[in-house]
Amino acid sequence: MDKRPVVVGNWKMELSHKSALEVFSALEKMMKEKEFEVDVAVCPSFPALHAIADLAKHTSLTIGAQNIHEEDRGAYTGSVSVSQIKDFVSWCIVGHSEVRQREHDSDEMVAMKTRLLLTHGITPIVCIGETQEQRFDEQTTRVLLQQIDSLISALDRVSLLKTVIAYEPIWAIGTGEMPDSNEVYEVMLLIRKRISQKFDGDLADRVRLLYGGSVKSDNVGQYIAGAGADGVLVGGASIHPRDFFEIISNVSKHYAR
Ligand code: PGA
Repeated sequence: MDKRPVVVGNWKMELSHKSALEVFSALEKMMKEKEFEVDVAVCPSFPALHAIADLAKHTSLTIGAQNIHEEDRGAYTGSVSVSQIKDFVSWCIVGHSEVRQREHDSDEMVAMKTRLLLTHGITPIVCIGETQEQRFDEQTTRVLLQQIDSLISALDRVSLLKTVIAYEPIWAIGTGEMPDSNEVYEVMLLIRKRISQKFDGDLADRVRLLYGGSVKSDNVGQYIAGAGADGVLVGGASIHPRDFFEIISNVSKHYAR
């Protein structure tokens, strides 16, 4: 199967402008020494996108945004549109649980943003996941199917192939609590099965699926080798260049092509 694993660093709102440039430069220095068959994207806050995209030119690193407004322009104070960032980014996270909660993004809104990004040639990284409460109530499958169905019914075959889906159990984000590799394996299977039902098995195999939630260099291997994820979405550990580099290196080591 000729697909490359993906490692995404979601820097959230953690770094000052100066620190963001420093973290990027330190990571780039380490990446220069090695060649990995891995797509690596870092997602800084909006104000740093331009400067970091400049630094990323002629490197193996690519840049993503953390969210986007669903309209292309207009009277939306405090928002940023896809056409304002499309010159700097090749990826964009959508439907992150922090955004879904804060801005009340529905599944339909997430699908709309996904389509908008695709029309601008930006790869969407669409997050799905259940809350702790839903997990305890054994609602995980129902919640995930709703999120998956809403997404895949809004996309055609070509669009879905260009989309990356990240399973991020909300209770695992930033908590150090994680699902075991079997649980993640089941979710990867669920997503692929749904894609296969709507489209076909070939597409289901080819869409890249990530795991996210408390990923560190010492636990990433199980999600790649054991759970069959095609990569990871990393929050906290991604702002530490050495840790993030180790994660990339371990993904490369454990990914079976
Ligand atoms: P975390 O965040 O790695 O700090 O758990 C993941 C995410 O929110 O994307």
